Amino acid sequence: TVYPNQHIASAKVARIIANLILEKQKAGLPAVLGLATGATPVGVYKELIRLHKEEALSFKNVITFNLDEYYPMKPTSVQSYVAFMNENLFNHIDIDKNNIHIPDGTLALEDIAAFCMAYETKISDLGGLDLQLLGIGRTGHIGFNEPGSAPNSGTRLVTLDDLTRSDASRDFGGKGNVPVKAITMGIGTIFKARQIILMAWSQKKASIIKKAVEGEISAEVPSTYLQLSDHVEFVLDEDAASFL
Ligand code: GLP
Repeated sequence: TVYPNQHIASAKVARIIANLILEKQKAGLPAVLGLATGATPVGVYKELIRLHKEEALSFKNVITFNLDEYYPMKPTSVQSYVAFMNENLFNHIDIDKNNIHIPDGTLALEDIAAFCMAYETKISDLGGLDLQLLGIGRTGHIGFNEPGSAPNSGTRLVTLDDLTRSDASRDFGGKGNVPVKAITMGIGTIFKARQIILMAWSQKKASIIKKAVEGEISAEVPSTYLQLSDHVEFVLDEDAASFL
């Protein structure tokens, strides 16, 4: 779906999320959301905060799982996805802090595999993700599933692509400071979500969006796997859609 600009698109996506939360509330059920970081979803989070403040949308029944976190990474670090989520969403809504899940960047190496398995189990014990939000990296990654990721991959420790680390270098004051690894939900984890929304804005994303939507399905561009899903929507602004 192509919208004239990212503000209109973000408001539409926020409305889809709000409706899901309300529907689940009526049924007395939790809404299980997969969330993303990066600049792309910020407008959606702003709109959700507005709906909380102005329309009394409650997040009491919302349980969240974030896609990824750098490794190693302290939650107190300004570059952590924990800090990002607190600042851009969680600090401004009435979500129960116990309902927030973000991969733990402080684990000892030998504890990561067990943590990742438990992350998957927690999601499936809740009946799976109702909705997964995605951005897209210029390597075609979703979450931090870089080129080479298998379609059935689960939550795991990965090595970041050089281009991804270059793109993150501004946040870290130099590429040398960007962690080399990350913990990410897998392509398989993402695929199990009942609804997937991938958002992309601006000309900067036009070329990777063309590859993701129209390119040959391949591990070289992990987002091309989404072509195999019948419950994914690409939400784009006109610039990101301009090469389609
Ligand atoms: C990071 C995140 C991804 C995100 C991507 C794009 O790599 N791990 O989940 O989609 O950045 O970021 P942006 O939205 O800032 O373009």
